[in-house]
Amino acid sequence: MHGDTRSIDELIAGQKRGYALDQRFYTDPTIYDLEIDRIISRNWILAGHQSELPEPGDYKVLNVANESAIIVRGSDGDLKAFANVCRHRGSLVCLQAEGHVRKFSCPYHGWMYDIDGNLTAARSMPSSFDKSAYGLNKVSLENIHGLVFICFSDEPPSVDAARRDLAEPMAMFDFENLKLAAHKSYDIAANWKLSIENYQECYHCATAHPEYAQMHTLMVDRKKRERLQGHMLGKMEACGIRNIVVDHLNTDAASGQLGYAYSRTALFEGYQTGSKDGKPVAPLLGNLKGYDGGASDFSLGAFSFLLAYSDHVVCYVFTPVDMNNSKCDIYWLVRGDAQEGRDYDVDELTWLWDVTTEADKTIIVNNAKGIHSRYYKPGPFSEMESLERQYVEWILQELQRV
Ligand code: FES
Ligand SMILES: [Fe+2]
Repeated sequence: MHGDTRSIDELIAGQKRGYALDQRFYTDPTIYDLEIDRIISRNWILAGHQSELPEPGDYKVLNVANESAIIVRGSDGDLKAFANVCRHRGSLVCLQAEGHVRKFSCPYHGWMYDIDGNLTAARSMPSSFDKSAYGLNKVSLENIHGLVFICFSDEPPSVDAARRDLAEPMAMFDFENLKLAAHKSYDIAANWKLSIENYQECYHCATAHPEYAQMHTLMVDRKKRERLQGHMLGKMEACGIRNIVVDHLNTDAASGQLGYAYSRTALFEGYQTGSKDGKPVAPLLGNLKGYDGGASDFSLGAFSFLLAYSDHVVCYVFTPVDMNNSKCDIYWLVRGDAQEGRDYDVDELTWLWDVTTEADKTIIVNNAKGIHSRYYKPGPFSEMESLERQYVEWILQELQRV
């Protein structure tokens, strides 16, 4: 830390607004620990789509920083989440990333838990041992129109406002009945904030993403963008897409609500969706009647971002692994009755965001390397980094929230 002995409060107070974060926000373990307490474990994280777990006993595991959660379809048909931590001596219970079980059996000494988290067997324990007191600990779970979120806090922010205000845009794309067509996890050797900061700005898009820049219009000048946007707005209604803008991104956790936002942006002319040639890669979603040439951005909390084209949805989830490593999980969703091979091809569907995320991974890791240098000094944000700036300010605010 090159002799920087300032306290965290002093560091936050001294952070120059409108500038990249000071090195210690990326390299100081005390700050990382604080982030775990005040940001990571207080916010909702997208764990996937309900269609991934159709039957009781279907499960998947989500690992975030030091936590591991089992998300399982319970015997009553509802989704539930449990801490993947044995109530005997704390081993991880479930070592598979996903699957189907009748019972979870701890690999250490064989304690068995049913799919509702109850301890059902524990060998050689005295007869006085009360199994009912040793069920798996619950992790908070919410289903927002088919998207499954978990939070590692017993008092998570409320998702009521997000669920209510996003009901209409999510219904347009029939989120409830989407199905998972592909999932990929990208390991990024960089602090989690660098991964999300990169997602928040498109200043780098023109240089780093020739494929994305060909179809998405975020980096063109305002005049051209307005013209393209007007063109899309003229087509939207006939395609069954209402023009809705929702902006509650700045809802801080202190307000007790999850932050959220929704808007739709035009693609370049000739692009019906985010595919190599601009042509559809899957059947139209929901009751849509045509392609308006747009893509909708959803933000749900601090870690989860969605992009809804007219024929598929891409979900991005950025989470910390440890202070110097993060990962990006991408879920590609198509309409529930679409069939692989007949209606969509996974390589075509995933092409754009796979190349884009591989490119992002490289630039984020290079960014992390430079930030660790003794020569790193925060530089000023450009106009095109306003969302990143907002995100960084949110981080600073949350770090100070006791
Ligand atoms: S730690 Fe799980 S059975 Fe012992
Ligand atoms: Fe990028």
